[in-house]
Amino acid sequence: MVARRCHCRALVFLVAFWFAYDAICRTLGQSENGDAKVGALVLVLVCIASYAATQMFAGRAAFLLVGAMLATAMSANVFFWIIPGQRTMVADMKAGRPVDPIHGQRGKQRSVHNTYFTLPVLFAMLSNHYSFTYTHPQNWLILIAIMFAGAAIRQFFVMRHGHKLGRNPHPWKYAAVGVVLLLGLIVWLRPAPSTAAAAPATVGYAELKPVIEQRCVMCHGEALASRNVRLDSPEELKRHAQSVYQQVVVGKLMPINNATGLTEDERALFARWFEAGSPTN
Ligand code: HEC
Repeated sequence: MVARRCHCRALVFLVAFWFAYDAICRTLGQSENGDAKVGALVLVLVCIASYAATQMFAGRAAFLLVGAMLATAMSANVFFWIIPGQRTMVADMKAGRPVDPIHGQRGKQRSVHNTYFTLPVLFAMLSNHYSFTYTHPQNWLILIAIMFAGAAIRQFFVMRHGHKLGRNPHPWKYAAVGVVLLLGLIVWLRPAPSTAAAAPATVGYAELKPVIEQRCVMCHGEALASRNVRLDSPEELKRHAQSVYQQVVVGKLMPINNATGLTEDERALFARWFEAGSPTN
């Protein structure tokens, strides 16, 4: 039941984004300074949608959903605007009718958007490999910043082409904005040494046991042993020590979507316990 409701909400999310985006392009696309107005509004819309997604869905799902949302808009642009527009123009030309430039202008605007969506989609779709991005409390800001950096870098490549043809000055500033933004994120997201230092030097099973009972056993116990992993006895825990370390400390994949609210200090306990040789007492 829960999963169904989730899928349904995700679908509503994709469709709602498309309608909002499409409405912006339709109403303002051909107005004076249309490209700039539409560009600014679409940027705002993507930011709102990214924030909403991270509030409605767990981090990992939210990032994928934002990727799917942009990818859906890209495909819909091609199917509903770019291809039909070209068809109409070709048909008009064949029939000897005057060709209305609006079809070309609309199609161009949509394909420019698709260009900027490319790198953000790529990141959002691959983001499940980068758990430190979507598990962060400000994950929405990280998502927006990385997507913005992607769009800026894309702009660099687009304008570099123009530079070679002598149409515009060298666009290094766009690449610089993207790179500086990414460097800033690296500094911001670097692992904090302080939490590990806060944990005691060595951690035995006795210290870890209450944490595991509170955060893991409901999915890894007698009643339910996800992936056949049980963690409700010291022997079982030790048997899975390497995998537990990998899941909890390195990848931060467990607890799934941090459903049970494992804190950073508790994660540090897992690290200390593993480094102490996974003691069973
Ligand atoms: C809400 C349920 C849930 C909670 C809470 C949870 N897990 Fe899991 N765990 C799972 C599921 C489901 C899988 C199987 C994941 C998969 O197949 O991708 C799993 C898999 C694992 C695996 C095996 C991974 C592998 O690929 O071999 C380990 C180890 C693990 N969990 C450790 C933990 C630890 C340690 C905690 C507590 C800090 C924890 N889990 C909390 C549901 C949970």
